[in-house]
Amino acid sequence: MSRVAHPAGPRHGDVLPADHPPAAAVDLNALEPAIWPRGARRADGVLMLGDVDVRSLAEQFGTPLYVCDADDVRSRCREYIEAFGPDARVFYAAKAFCSRAMLRWVSAEGLGVDVCTGGELEVALSAGVPPDMITLHGNNKSLDELTRAVSAGVGHIVLDSFEEIARLAFVAEPRAADSASAWPRVLVRVTTGVEAHTHEFMATAHDDQKFGFSLASGAADEAVRRVLACPGLDFAGLHSHIGSQIFDTAGFEVAARRVLELAIRIREEHGVSISELDLGGGFGIAYTPEDDAPSVKELAQSLLTIVDRQCSSAGLPRPRLTVEPGRAIVGSSTVTLYTVGTIKDVDGLRTYVSVDGGMSDNIRTALYDASYSCSLASRASAEQPMLSRVVGKHCESGDIVVRHAWLPSDLAPGDLLAVPATGAYCRSLASNYNHVPRPAVVAVSDGTASVIVRRETVEDLLSLDVG
Ligand SMILES: Cc1ncc(COP(=O)(O)O)c(C=O)c1O
Repeated sequence: MSRVAHPAGPRHGDVLPADHPPAAAVDLNALEPAIWPRGARRADGVLMLGDVDVRSLAEQFGTPLYVCDADDVRSRCREYIEAFGPDARVFYAAKAFCSRAMLRWVSAEGLGVDVCTGGELEVALSAGVPPDMITLHGNNKSLDELTRAVSAGVGHIVLDSFEEIARLAFVAEPRAADSASAWPRVLVRVTTGVEAHTHEFMATAHDDQKFGFSLASGAADEAVRRVLACPGLDFAGLHSHIGSQIFDTAGFEVAARRVLELAIRIREEHGVSISELDLGGGFGIAYTPEDDAPSVKELAQSLLTIVDRQCSSAGLPRPRLTVEPGRAIVGSSTVTLYTVGTIKDVDGLRTYVSVDGGMSDNIRTALYDASYSCSLASRASAEQPMLSRVVGKHCESGDIVVRHAWLPSDLAPGDLLAVPATGAYCRSLASNYNHVPRPAVVAVSDGTASVIVRRETVEDLLSLDVG
């Protein structure tokens, strides 16, 4: 049955964004390269990921299902390594998606790994990431986490508060007197006051937030003073992360300038030059065809030039640059497959398409007002586009997966929908809300599929509930 198409769009309140394509401009079967994994294509109308038919993935592993194109991830790692060159380092921000397989892939491609909790640290260590290629972040690391990081020999610990400096100094104190023990190398996280042009909850360097030491208040200068006064801590340099999903390098330019001004003061006051400068991550990706993210090459050129220029104008030796991309490595690699359950036309406004997952596997739409697109994956359709909202099965009206989507008017229960660009901050932010088990993650490559994170079961959930 073909359903009523609503090409005019919603009539009340919730209008389509101006850059949303009109129905007439939509090719329902197209796969816009910027938002789909590099290996995505259609064969006889069916979506293929890593040369695997999505219908067989759904049949074998069930839905919802995160399908990760391993070659896509690895090719993006190589692009970053090549673009930033041998004098810089690229650390994958594991918070975007943290699993042993993923960390093995990025590590094999030469990236380090940035972790921000003891849990992520354990995944990295058990994946075999060399400890000196791990950086530990976090704004409230416990004594246990710091102790574990130091004893494992992680490459860098990024200090975020005065309490933490004292805590790490306590952990490192026995090493101060022992010439055979390496001292933990530390970076001081600086809050540069840059307002990145991104969602408020993703901007992390304006002054009114929880991360880092403020430059404006002098806290950053004081943090460096304290670190340098601690026997057992090896001060390596400075860290700044200005936010996420950033398309424009202007914010990095201002942040780098401010951080390097601090580096000049450190040299003047203490006679110490920083050897490391970590500018964090935050490089934006395309979530919908309307997003226009800069290429890795452009980004790298621009950051390397910024650091070179600022250092030479300040007369500073150039520190080693590190960047920490998360979503830019995994975001576009993964597609979430859902099965359509119900389809409801609401008073000529739009069609609500309910799928078998939702805010428990992708909270970003509800949390950040993020935009996604989606496509009918299990077959092609030549029907008219109908304005749809793809919603989940949770008991919340804000349980929206794709706010505005054009889907074919012959969509039916049992069809598979694919939501691209769900590799970052979807599985890692997934929850068991409404006691919905979290989906599996399957890696596809060269026509084969393997589970890298298994699906949770109701038994898993019940086993935590000890009565
Ligand atoms: C310190 C730090 N580095 C890197 C990242 C990765 O950001 P993205 O995934 O946007 O590249 C984050 C994200 O929150 C972060 O806090």
